Amino acid sequence: MTEHDEGFEVCRVDPLKLHDLRRRVLRSNNPEVSVGDPRDGESTSLHFAGYLGDRLVVSASFFPSTSPVDPDVKSYQLRYMATDFDAQGKGYGAEVLEFAESQLREQGARQVWANGRDTALGFYRAIGWEIVEGSEHLSPETKLPHTVIYKSL
Ligand SMILES: CC(C)(COP(=O)(O)OP(=O)(O)OC[C@H]1O[C@@H](n2cnc3c(N)ncnc32)[C@H](O)[C@@H]1OP(=O)(O)O)[C@@H](O)C(=O)NCCC(=O)NCCS
Repeated sequence: MTEHDEGFEVCRVDPLKLHDLRRRVLRSNNPEVSVGDPRDGESTSLHFAGYLGDRLVVSASFFPSTSPVDPDVKSYQLRYMATDFDAQGKGYGAEVLEFAESQLREQGARQVWANGRDTALGFYRAIGWEIVEGSEHLSPETKLPHTVIYKSL
């Protein structure tokens, strides 16, 4: 667990705790759509939460996955990265990923990758992720524009 000077803390959590935030921030609070990943419950998956006091305001989940960038490098896929609306832009998302990346390095990971929403690419760029040129696509789930992004650890 890590502590921020404003009482912000990051920790590993059970993925079920992340579903409400995943749904509200990433799926327009639509009760009809799935906000689970089939790998959520696997012991090799790592789920992180950022808390402001008792309130969960950031979610990020990582799954072991072959990287589309470097298939031979031990990699994890990031999914369901979200910061609650009123907590965005305060550095919390970046802090959760910094904590997660250090834990993933300890697990032997050397790269993380994601299908990043185009509207969030500025966030990822600001914290050291790179864009795979030519990988632009529409998410099959949300139909929103995405691009493959990665970061070496
Ligand atoms: C994208 C998101 C996760 C970023 O989390 P956050 O907690 O708001 O981000 P932070 O405050 O930690 O930002 C870190 C840096 O990224 C920048 N940044 C954040 N969001 C940005 C955006 N959409 N575009 C450009 N830059 C952005 C910040 O300005 C900050 O830069 P700085 O360090 O130079 O000041 C959050 O805005 C969010 O949940 N958005 C809606 C859902 C979404 O798109 N999730 C990503 C799915 S792939």
